[in-house]
Amino acid sequence: MIKAITGTKDILPGEIEKWQFLEKLVRNELENFNYNEIRTPIFEETALFSRGIGEATDIVSKEMYTFKDRSETSISLKPEMTASVVRAVLEHSLDKQFGLNKLYYISPMFRQERPQAGRLRQFHQFGAEALGSMHPALDAEMILICYRIFKILGLKNVSVKINSLGVPESRENYKKILREYLSDKIKDLSEDSKKRYETNILRIFDSKDERDSEIMKNAPLLIEYLDNVSLEHFEKVKQILLAAQVPFEVDPVLVRGLDYYTNTTFEILSGSVGSQSALCGGGRYDLLSEQLGGRKIPGVGFAAGMERILLACQNEGILQLPETCIDVYVVRIDKELENETAAFGNLLRERNLKVEFDYQSRSVKAQMREANRLNSINVIMFGGEEYQRGSAVLKNMKNGEQQEVNLSDIDSLINKLK
Ligand code: HAM
Repeated sequence: MIKAITGTKDILPGEIEKWQFLEKLVRNELENFNYNEIRTPIFEETALFSRGIGEATDIVSKEMYTFKDRSETSISLKPEMTASVVRAVLEHSLDKQFGLNKLYYISPMFRQERPQAGRLRQFHQFGAEALGSMHPALDAEMILICYRIFKILGLKNVSVKINSLGVPESRENYKKILREYLSDKIKDLSEDSKKRYETNILRIFDSKDERDSEIMKNAPLLIEYLDNVSLEHFEKVKQILLAAQVPFEVDPVLVRGLDYYTNTTFEILSGSVGSQSALCGGGRYDLLSEQLGGRKIPGVGFAAGMERILLACQNEGILQLPETCIDVYVVRIDKELENETAAFGNLLRERNLKVEFDYQSRSVKAQMREANRLNSINVIMFGGEEYQRGSAVLKNMKNGEQQEVNLSDIDSLINKLK
């Protein structure tokens, strides 16, 4: 038997309703904030991600699904959307047409990570990107959008962490200071962090290894070495969040796993989902469009992991959706009325009712059982003497009331069903 690939998941009826609910909520919120949907291809040239996200990041160095297509072009399944959105804005000159572009997406992403609860190889993100402005109000807006969505869902156990990574000059200067601090401690770092010391020194802060944490406890912090412009920007983001009543905490060691960030970074964590606790993450990336070879377009955005959000909802016992139901089940009483029953059912469907009938020549009793299983609100008994009179029996399954309805007066029948 062929099975689904490790780290991928089928989303089946019974669970899909929660996804649809979340997607609808996300669309509604993002559209209220005036974001427009963008859809980009599932795969792109590998160079887009290696240049955008950074060669030394875990995503690019070990997690991408990369392959050569038949024309020997290196292709990767998208591990995230930000690089693709920036590419699309540049490619279609949206920045020239509209100035500020506020875009959102809901899409599968692909990363070959070790699967565990809340970590998949095909997972789904919703996210937003605002391109064309350096205003701190947009940084705060991203955090506010996520916070609002989690609040509407009813998630209780969430905390907002923010940080600023400044501009590359101050960051490079800081990296030198950090390198110096660690220079006589390298031998005590974990193997992974020894590598990070060479390739991506800031990520040592992310290490879960106790030896590393002990060493990093006294390390100098980037925030202490920020330039004045970055500090001022960060201050404004904090003021706007305070005014919007979004509770947050400054986390000076929040470094994020993608290289394109400048200034603000943030994550919202849940205490209800175990070790994969980041429900969303994002930040500002004012230099990304240029790193991709395009014009300068400052940007800020976020992406949120939908599996993790739904897991948090499940663990907090929220998002209990009402059971699904149908409007009408048409029970065929006379065997020979099979075609007429189907035609009548389809007529009701055309009038925008959710309708089901039997396809397996089952007995009246079995059809009634099926109507109950589907939580049908009404049942129409099609056949018998009533049919000879041009009518049928309508039964309301909630209160058990029955009445004879005239089949030729479809409008008044529909009114009784709504
Ligand atoms: P990221 O932090 O890599 O950022 O991913 C954002 C969110 O996607 C995470 O917080 C997590 O909820 C979810 N996620 C990531 N990997 C997995 C996985 N393997 N399984 C399940 N969920 C996962 C980005 O992707 C950036 N593009 C965010 C951004 C947008 N920054 C600026 N604009």
